[in-house]
Amino acid sequence: MSLLLAMTGWHVEDWRARFKALLPDMPIVTLGEPFDRRSVHYVASWKHPEGSLAGLPNLAAVFSLGAGVDHLFADTRLPDVPIARVVDPDLTTRMSEYIVLHCLMILRQQRRYDAQQPQKSWDDDRNQPAARSVRVGVMGLGELGQDAVHKLKVMGFDVAGWSRSPKAIDGLASFSGSEGMASFLARTDILVSLLPLTPETRGTINATLLAGLAQDGRLGGPFLVNAGRGGLQVEADILAALDAGTLKGATLDVFETEPLPAESRLWTHPAVTVTPHNAAMSEPEAVATLISAQIRRLEAGEPLEHVVDPARGY
Ligand code: NDP
Ligand code: OXD
Repeated sequence: MSLLLAMTGWHVEDWRARFKALLPDMPIVTLGEPFDRRSVHYVASWKHPEGSLAGLPNLAAVFSLGAGVDHLFADTRLPDVPIARVVDPDLTTRMSEYIVLHCLMILRQQRRYDAQQPQKSWDDDRNQPAARSVRVGVMGLGELGQDAVHKLKVMGFDVAGWSRSPKAIDGLASFSGSEGMASFLARTDILVSLLPLTPETRGTINATLLAGLAQDGRLGGPFLVNAGRGGLQVEADILAALDAGTLKGATLDVFETEPLPAESRLWTHPAVTVTPHNAAMSEPEAVATLISAQIRRLEAGEPLEHVVDPARGY
């Protein structure tokens, strides 16, 4: 019985070493080497090549090496077995660091001071809104969204959330579904996206959504922070809104095409902050520990945790 590591873009040997230490009795095989396909009971995947998991007759479960599972559902030949994803405090904490950092960067106009410094410009602007007067709207109130909401509130922001199903979260104005969208956007100065990419959410951050954001806030216009998935955003619409001044800035960790192509105008737009899809990286120690515990649960006849619903796509 073996664990197959099926990944692209990451250092598979780092992962093999972690899993070997945690599951000393289990052979760990990788896509790049010969292995007996009948021996594979478990797969840990990050963007495995299309079709590479087909023909594993004894497969019992697939583990996503990240929180997102869109990379799995993109494979039209994905085996029909339970799929579990990463839900782990290490990853969640990293994401909340990113969200709080970038909301504070926007609030405190850090990009502006970075630009002023080479000019030795002491522009002592006294227009410094308080966090309590800035309305942050978090799209996606799952594992990551709820932690981010909590930490943004600790910093004093006026936070609301939006999700598919209605939520009752203490002290949080929450909105849901298409019927809640307009009111949610109308009270949002910084829109934070922590949605999964599904057929329903693809292209959500488009011209219509951006046009609904508040224009009457203390920041002089709305900002976008997307750390969910690039497929959520229509980059041409974001650039058009930035050029028109109806969107004041965008902080993007994820892109329609990754790595972001050199010719994308997002690289050079003065109002855009680009980070290389590392808002919350999967740290091998933490994630291998989580997946090893899941495998031990299955081996002990216990149910898997953090199973995704293929019908919803997340
Ligand atoms: P969860 O599954 O825990 O939460 C997803 C949230 O999105 C839920 O609140 C869900 O609503 C909501 N949602 C899903 N579909 C819709 C919809 N159609 N309309 C409105 N709301 C919707 O996911 P996580 O919080 O763990 O992760 C979110 C995403 O973050 C991941 O899927 C991944 O894409 C991204 N991510 C990015 C990383 C990075 O480094 N940039 C790192 C890790 C994750 P409901 O509560 O009603 O189900
Ligand atoms: C994830 C990611 O889904 O890193 O975990 O994008």
